[in-house]
Amino acid sequence: MSESPFGDISIEEFLRDYWQKKPLLVRNAFPDLEAPVGADELAGLSLEEDVESRLVVQSPDGADFDIKHGPFDEATFTSLPETHWTLLVQAVDHWVPEASDIVEQFRFIPNWRFDDLMVSFASQGGGVGPHYDNYDVFLIQTQGKRRWEVGGFFDQNSPRRPNTPVMIMTEWEPEFNWVLEPGDMLYIPPQVGHNGIGESDDCMTYSVGFRAPSHAEIMRSFTDFVGEKLTSESRYTDPDLTLQDNSGEITPQAIDKVRQIFTGYLADDAKLGQWLGQYVTDPKYPDLDQAPEEAISTDQLRTALNESDLYFVRNEGARFSYSLNTEDELQFFADGRSFQLSGTSCTLAANLCRNPAIVINQGEWSEQQLQLLVDLFNQGSIYLED
Ligand code: SIN
Ligand code: CO
Repeated sequence: MSESPFGDISIEEFLRDYWQKKPLLVRNAFPDLEAPVGADELAGLSLEEDVESRLVVQSPDGADFDIKHGPFDEATFTSLPETHWTLLVQAVDHWVPEASDIVEQFRFIPNWRFDDLMVSFASQGGGVGPHYDNYDVFLIQTQGKRRWEVGGFFDQNSPRRPNTPVMIMTEWEPEFNWVLEPGDMLYIPPQVGHNGIGESDDCMTYSVGFRAPSHAEIMRSFTDFVGEKLTSESRYTDPDLTLQDNSGEITPQAIDKVRQIFTGYLADDAKLGQWLGQYVTDPKYPDLDQAPEEAISTDQLRTALNESDLYFVRNEGARFSYSLNTEDELQFFADGRSFQLSGTSCTLAANLCRNPAIVINQGEWSEQQLQLLVDLFNQGSIYLED
């Protein structure tokens, strides 16, 4: 297990006592952190078509909030006020390979729970206002200072200010008031209220964000997955029907038969596992075409591997996970696609999940491994580097 970023608290203790339970402030969690993205690069990213970004500008007294969504243009930044604004850019780890190194520090949480690395820049007084998220987040201060007010659990019914474009909790009484300096980290569990306010004119915060599918998403996605493969002949049947007193009654027996339809599909471990793996590795931005300009064949890869070792890098936006079927067989999931693997290919898949980059040595591969690498390369989940 990797070294704990929680100081005296071990990763096991963090998971037991804090994860999804209560906030944790860690002073100097990343003392040597060199932030790979500064304010100018962040603004540059927000000009790009494919990059998801927001600009939140407050009124001079900080009370009212306005939100604009990117992509922005240069003029947007030249016309900003001196204070009380913040730029937030999602999925910076997808676009800046060095930024994904920070994410690697959090691999003690399963890959499939990770969402993205968001980076924000705030001017003096800037922030998005008091709110809660439905996700766990680690907020790392990389530059400047930020005051965090933290505390209380909130939900959909908690009072919030009407008619504002961002969520602003009213009746907000934070339990903690912490000023974070570069290297400090704050963990916020889902639904815990928080409000970050820039306390310098160069405040940068890196948010390592996790995700958890809602019950609504789980139910819809699984039933779609099952439903798509069923024929119209798979239907409710009742050859055991008996005469009812009142034909208007939907009997407990009928309800039970419907329940059995659901539980029948749910009891199929392979089906449930395959759906979950594909669902949670679906790309964050499915419309982005990641495929290489030229696809490769297994013959080409074999020839290349006869000549030299090859260095494969996991695409920064790629989502890889696996579930074990037996000791020697697993289902590997990459960006929404599943691969049934056995033997040495299982080791390859496990390595791809664990490491951002791997070296494939000359002659150390099977046909199945070769096919897996070609498929992953051609769908843009991995790329080759010198
Ligand atoms: C930030 O402004 O960097 C974090 C926003 C949030 O609290 O979700
Ligand atoms: Co938040």
